[in-house]
Amino acid sequence: MTVENTEDLFVEGLQHIYYTEQRLLDALEELESTSSTEELQSGFSEHRSETEEQIERLEQVFEAVGQEPEAAEDPVIEGMIEAHEEFVEQEPSDGALDRFNIAAGQKSEHYEIACYGNLTPLADQLGLDEAADLLEQNMREEQEELDTLAEMGEEFDYGRIEA
Ligand SMILES: [Fe+2]
Repeated sequence: MTVENTEDLFVEGLQHIYYTEQRLLDALEELESTSSTEELQSGFSEHRSETEEQIERLEQVFEAVGQEPEAAEDPVIEGMIEAHEEFVEQEPSDGALDRFNIAAGQKSEHYEIACYGNLTPLADQLGLDEAADLLEQNMREEQEELDTLAEMGEEFDYGRIEA
């Protein structure tokens, strides 16, 4: 799409995060299935359910701006997914893969927070109060997930890396 005004810029960003969240449904399933601890598996599974709700909120945001929901391919999330696939192909130990998965989750949360952190002020600028609230709700959930993952990273038992 051609960006000619603030609303176009907002919709452009919205289409990219809409794509990203949808790809994350697959990615979170992959993170769950390649993790070996119950704590990590259930963490990724719970965030996958939250992601489904986030996608619904994004559909409401599209509605608020009078647009049909549309996804625009986002190379950032594709790159992250590719990096994960390449790591898995190296057949790392369970511990190394768990630690990698925590980092992969953190990276995607940072990216999502950056996207929502930019979209919310654009929604404010456009006077879309309800949309701004919905985007902020998504951002809060990403922040909570980031905090949970960061804690798991800090408490990680590095003795598990050596298979
Ligand atoms: Fe998300």
